[in-house]
This record gives sequence, C-alpha cells and structure tokens, in this order.
Amino acid sequence: MPLLGFGTWQIRGPQAYDAVRRALDVGYRHIDTATVYRNEEEVGRGLADSGIPRDEVFVTTKVPPNAGDPRKTLDTSLQKLGTDHLDLWLIHWTEGGSIHEDLWQVLFEAQKAGKVRDVGVSNYSLDQIDRLTDATGQQPAVNQIEWAPTLYDDEVARGHEQRVVVLEGYSALRNTNLDDPVLREVADAHGVSPSQVLLRWHLDHGFVAIPKSVTPERIESNFAITAFELDEQELHRIDGLAGS
Ligand SMILES: NC(=O)c1ccc[n+]([C@@H]2O[C@H](COP(=O)([O-])OP(=O)(O)OC[C@H]3O[C@@H](n4cnc5c(N)ncnc54)[C@H](OP(=O)(O)O)[C@@H]3O)[C@@H](O)[C@H]2O)c1
Repeated sequence: MPLLGFGTWQIRGPQAYDAVRRALDVGYRHIDTATVYRNEEEVGRGLADSGIPRDEVFVTTKVPPNAGDPRKTLDTSLQKLGTDHLDLWLIHWTEGGSIHEDLWQVLFEAQKAGKVRDVGVSNYSLDQIDRLTDATGQQPAVNQIEWAPTLYDDEVARGHEQRVVVLEGYSALRNTNLDDPVLREVADAHGVSPSQVLLRWHLDHGFVAIPKSVTPERIESNFAITAFELDEQELHRIDGLAGS
C-alpha cells in the first residue's frame, strides 16, 4: 500500500476525472474513493485512460454500513471502477453503536472470492477494532481515520502499531493551519512548503496520507515529498501541535 495516496471526496463528474488523471500523471499510484462519493465511474475512467497497468495502482473504495445489499454494492463499485478487484475495501463508518460484524463477514467473503485483496474499516476506535476482531477472529488490515498533527494521539498511533493495523489518515490539510510557526520553521529548514512537511510527517511516522486537491499545482506539490525526510526531533515538534 503506497503511503501516499490521492483523496477524492467531494469531487464528482469531469472535475473528478481531471483530478484523477492529473494525480496519476504526476505519479500517485494509490486512489481513495467510496460508494458515497459518487465518483467511482470517473475514477475508473481516469484509471483506464491513464494507460497505467491496473496492477500498478492501489485502489480503495468503501461500503456504507447501511448499504442494503453490500455484495451488490461491491459489484457496482467494481463495475464503475472498471476493475475485477479492489486493493482495499473498507467499512466506511460505524452507525448506531454497531461494529457491523455481519457486514465484516461479507468483506471477508469478497476477499476469499478474490474480489478484494485486503479489507479494513474506517472511523473505528481501537476499542471497536478489538471488539470486531474478538467477535469475528478477523482483524482489519487498515483503519482510515481523521488524522493530522492537531489530532495526534500517541496512544492511538501506538495502538494501531501494536495491533499491526495500518493507520490511514484523512483530512490532514483541513485540520492544519499551514501558517503554523513550527511547520513554517521546519519547512524553511528543508526548503519545502508547510503542506509538504505536513504530508511528510505522515510518511516518516508510517501513517498513510491521502490528500485531496483539484488544483494541478497542489496535486503535484503534495506528491513531491520524496526528496527530504524529517528527523526524530522535527517529528516530535510537529507531534506537539496536538490539540492546537
Ligand atoms: N473515511 C472517511 O470517513 C473520510 C472522510 C473524509 C475524507 N476521507 C478521504 O480523505 C481524503 C482527504 O481528506 P479531505 O478531502 O477531507 O481533506 P484534505 O485532503 O485534508 O484537504 C482538502 C482541502 O485542502 C486543499 N488543499 C489540498 N492541497 C493543498 C495544499 N498543498 N495547500 C493548501 N491547501 C490544499 C484542497 O483544496 P483544492 O482541492 O481546492 O486544491 C481542499 O480544500 C478525502 O478526499 C477522502 O478520500 C475519508
């Protein structure tokens, strides 16, 4: 799973197609979508028209917990995305206090059938992950949660690591003040932008980041973060933005 992916929430139609094409052109090989984003078809066309072989791109989509027939939802996602398998299929959120054990079995069934490579959850707490694992004997590979330095919680980070559940963060940019002096200082030290430091913070911690943008320059700069690394001290300073 590439640690850096491209988010597609709130983009639809031609804008979604253009953004995905752009992202694939500049080098992203991981795209995050969901049934409820209503852009799987555009993501699929973007993938197909990019000419990049299917097995070089990591594709995630998510099933809403209230999907009437999740097996049908998966087949629709596959058809719209123009693929015979997903790399990752997630339960999108928890609802009504449920951890959705029954739906979880459907995800595993799909994995056994070869329709999805891996399965996981989104917006689950560590306690909910443990309950799901205890109830079904199957642990999620990934938990996609809202995550940024301002939301950083050592217990949550370590909890995922200890369970060997990949922590995939979402809405990092939305949750960050890019004028923050710490981010600016670290960015200046590396000759990069605060947004690039923010995304690099994920990678150097081992978190997955999936920034979304419809702006070509941002799509490009959010991906251009391989030429520098943050050291322990810098990571620690940025962790310190928690709660700010
Ligand atoms: N599992 C879930 O429940 C869940 C929930 C939310 C999101 N997600 C996933 O996570 C992805 C990312 O989260 P998100 O879309 O909420 O927000 P995000 O990626 O944190 O932020 C997107 C916003 O930041 C702006 N932006 C992007 N790059 C920037 C840069 N370099 N400098 C300044 N601003 C920049 C974008 O503007 P422009 O587009 O105008 O450039 C957009 O307004 C989603 O697209 C989706 O795939 C999952």
